[in-house]
Amino acid sequence: MKRWALLLAGLSVTVAGLPQTHEVLNWAPCQEVNKQIADLVAPFPITPFDCANLMVPLDYDEPCTSEKIQLDLFRVNATQKPVLGSVLFNPGGPGGTAAEMLPLVAESGLHLNIGGQFNLISWDPRGTGNTIPFNCSTGESAATGNPVRRGDYRTLPSSNVTQNFIDVGWDIARQKAEDCYATNNGTGEFIGTGSVAHDMISIIDSLGEDGLLRYYGWSYGSALGFYFAAMFPERVDRMLLDGNVNPHTWQLGYRPELFEAVDKAFAAFIDECWKNGKDCALVTELNTTSKAEIWNTMDALIYAAAKNTTTAAGFEAYIAILGLIEQRLYYPKQWPKLAQIFADMLTGKIEASPANSSAPAPQPYNHGVDAIDGIRCSDATFQTAELEEYFPILAQQLNHSRGFGAFYNAVWPCASWKMPDKQQYRGDFKVKTRHPILMVNGEFDPTTPISGAYNASSAFDGSVVLAHNGYGHGIFPSPSKCVAEKIQQYFVHGSLPEAGIACEPDFGPWELAEYYAANNISRPF
Ligand SMILES: *[C@@H]1O[C@H](CO)[C@@H](O)[C@H](O)[C@H]1NC(C)=O
Ligand SMILES: *[C@@H]1O[C@H](CO)[C@@H](O)[C@H](O)[C@H]1NC(C)=O
Ligand SMILES: *[C@@H]1O[C@H](CO)[C@@H](O)[C@H](O)[C@H]1NC(C)=O
Ligand SMILES: *[C@@H]1O[C@H](CO)[C@@H](O)[C@H](O)[C@H]1NC(C)=O
Ligand SMILES: *[C@@H]1O[C@H](CO)[C@@H](O)[C@H](O)[C@H]1NC(C)=O
Ligand SMILES: *[C@@H]1O[C@H](CO)[C@@H](O)[C@H](O)[C@H]1NC(C)=O
Ligand SMILES: *[C@@H]1O[C@H](CO)[C@@H](O)[C@H](O)[C@H]1NC(C)=O
Ligand SMILES: *[C@@H]1O[C@H](CO)[C@@H](O)[C@H](O)[C@H]1NC(C)=O
Ligand SMILES: *[C@@H]1O[C@H](CO)[C@@H](O)[C@H](O)[C@H]1NC(C)=O
Ligand SMILES: *[C@@H]1O[C@H](CO)[C@@H](O)[C@H](O)[C@H]1NC(C)=O
Repeated sequence: MKRWALLLAGLSVTVAGLPQTHEVLNWAPCQEVNKQIADLVAPFPITPFDCANLMVPLDYDEPCTSEKIQLDLFRVNATQKPVLGSVLFNPGGPGGTAAEMLPLVAESGLHLNIGGQFNLISWDPRGTGNTIPFNCSTGESAATGNPVRRGDYRTLPSSNVTQNFIDVGWDIARQKAEDCYATNNGTGEFIGTGSVAHDMISIIDSLGEDGLLRYYGWSYGSALGFYFAAMFPERVDRMLLDGNVNPHTWQLGYRPELFEAVDKAFAAFIDECWKNGKDCALVTELNTTSKAEIWNTMDALIYAAAKNTTTAAGFEAYIAILGLIEQRLYYPKQWPKLAQIFADMLTGKIEASPANSSAPAPQPYNHGVDAIDGIRCSDATFQTAELEEYFPILAQQLNHSRGFGAFYNAVWPCASWKMPDKQQYRGDFKVKTRHPILMVNGEFDPTTPISGAYNASSAFDGSVVLAHNGYGHGIFPSPSKCVAEKIQQYFVHGSLPEAGIACEPDFGPWELAEYYAANNISRPF
């Protein structure tokens, strides 16, 4: 035993002199990518980044003989010395790219919360960017003009989700799975979260550091964190998961809890509007005199739209209204604007359809247009060819939200998926990691309810959940000095907060714009 320890110690002293067993990353400036991304996200500024790439096996079952693929990596430097190492960041989605996300959140999301002493590294996960981009377009849809067959769920004919599912939803989902199989045969079984966890090992081995993972996983990045931790518990040095999915329902491939918290977040929006009545358009422009009156007004608007769904245009309008609410609940900074849009609808200033509010899309960076389906369905262990077997899942979903269940269709193709990830993780997540995981989760997160964090924490030994009483998806949209301080203690010293404590946000939604202006922070959320 003792001799081993000595041997290992001796090895680590001379390790610099040994031949490299791992490729070392070739970081270099990449002005063109910086410019492309700056143009894409304008008017928001980006943090300059360097680029590198790493060749990894397509198939980790055959690491030596498999074809190699290129991972594109991006790095934002630490801002403070001494530099303590690198933190990997996953851009969420799934299907998000690092190039589009890292430069946007590096300063006001990551450095702010982790502290400036770490280099921030992210990479375009398999299926996204230019890394075997997952695109299920057969190239025929434009020619045949058949949106239903091509998976455009927005043409569903009724607001009754169960009826939609029976009439067309199930068939659309199966067709989507077929199309993806036909267009990604050969690479489609290598883009799941298990394969990406193997890539993370390749990345940390090529950093020239200690071979341990320091990681910030946001949203879907929490699923990636859970998979990595369960597959490689000995490699976890720091893992902060922000906006947590329930790892067990994620693994099944459906998430009945998905809209559990939308109602709660929507109620918070109404509360905050009433609290900020002199600046909330739903009060000032509608002359509402009580919170109940705001509720009634909003209900009337939404239910009128829900009833008017027998035509395609009516259904579009209904989904657009739900979508407007759902998306803006992610970002409390936008709540005053959300109130304004609804006030304008209710006073007849704009039509009750925000569908025409989107700007023309610039040249895309991400070629993985279907990566969101590809990645989550690659992980799915629940498969069935029988429509009836899916009914209980639908029932659970609809039971979780008053009105937002209409969005649920996004996960339907997973039950028919034909390309499970070759590295698919099927275990129960009950592991003890080298260092415990810290989960942080908003109490009002509209898409990753805090129940997911508690559920995960009961599997990962020693992990702790830090609750955040701010609004929005993840902690970035609602800065909190209390949260940042605890996260920095964790990354720098490894210490975890006490279980059961909660942090307050620094600002309410109506104060955020002022804070950003005062601190010269320009960002989308
Ligand atoms: C990051 O730091 C390295 C050296 O530490 C430097 O060469 C590089 O130019 C820096 N990159 C950026 C984008 O500032
Ligand atoms: C997806 O594939 C289709 C059909 O091959 C192609 O026309 C389209 O440009 C691709 N999309 C992207 C973003 O690469
Ligand atoms: C929705 O459709 C299902 C299936 O036809 C039906 O059983 C249910 O009663 C409908 N729900 C409503 C609210 O109409
Ligand atoms: C997928 O590729 C395999 C091997 O190349 C081939 O046998 C199979 O027919 C292909 N499937 C589809 C749906 O194209
Ligand atoms: C609200 O009150 C103002 C001032 O009395 C009035 O001009 C306006 O028409 C009222 N708005 C609505 C929607 O009743
Ligand atoms: C129903 O929706 C259509 C299409 O958006 C719209 O033109 C019509 O005014 C709506 N009817 C009602 C009663 O809201
Ligand atoms: C939608 O378009 C109409 C007509 O061009 C315009 O009056 C309305 O303001 C637009 N709505 C939004 C939310 O931009
Ligand atoms: C719906 O929710 C209620 C209350 O949470 C619960 O008692 C009931 O079992 C749920 N039903 C289904 C079908 O999940
Ligand atoms: C976690 O969630 C799964 C899926 O909903 C459930 O089966 C399991 O009982 C939950 N575990 C705990 C400890 O709550
Ligand atoms: C505010 O930030 C922008 C970049 O976002 C920068 O160009 C400008 O100099 C900053 N202004 C101040 C007063 O710091």
